Amino acid sequence: MGVLINPSILSADFANLERDLGVIANADYAHVDVMDNHFVPNLTIGLSVVERLVQVCPIPIDTHLMIENPDRWAPGFAEAGAASVTFHAEAAQAPVRLARELRRLGARAGLALKPATPVEPFLDLLSEIDMLLVMTVEPGFGGQSFIEGTLPKIRRARAAISEAGLDVWVQVDGGVSRTTIERIADAGANVFVAGSAVYGADNPAAEIESLRTLANATPHSH
Ligand code: DX5
Ligand code: ZN
Repeated sequence: MGVLINPSILSADFANLERDLGVIANADYAHVDVMDNHFVPNLTIGLSVVERLVQVCPIPIDTHLMIENPDRWAPGFAEAGAASVTFHAEAAQAPVRLARELRRLGARAGLALKPATPVEPFLDLLSEIDMLLVMTVEPGFGGQSFIEGTLPKIRRARAAISEAGLDVWVQVDGGVSRTTIERIADAGANVFVAGSAVYGADNPAAEIESLRTLANATPHSH
């Protein structure tokens, strides 16, 4: 399972999103954080902006929906052409029905867990999704520090996926940097979201390559 680096445009310049998507063209996916000021105490962009980002982005788009009622809203992001649509387990009424709908629309289906949400209740549903997102900060803002206590959950999730013989990606989001990425990769994650680490770097493209190299250097990534 290969290492993927998905920079979060939450730390980009919102007045220059097309330019800032071009800056990360060597990444695997562009991570787009959709927040509704209800599920999280912050508000970002919605479907109409994402529809345009899909059209101008040089790489596929990975949407992370931090919104209430994803059952109602998430399919629209798949219809807009997002390659991956991740909704929160805490917000979904019918996660399996929604994941199936996203896949039917041609997107990869992702299920996200806040730091305090256990993975165990969802282990039997892993075959219904393409990616499990383990949040490693409380969702809502960029630039927070990595919560070390989430590492055992990443490990348990990866072990359960391997045991079931599934090809489910494990994504981590929050506080990923050159300082933390090796420990996170060692725990079994293979998709790394990094916002402030990439866009805060003098050379974002070089930072993406540094993160990729560090993650690939851990035994688990091979
Ligand atoms: C936070 C968002 C993240 C955010 C990560 O709720 O989901 O994608 O951009 O930012 P950093 O990498 O700065 O922790
Ligand atoms: Zn995110």
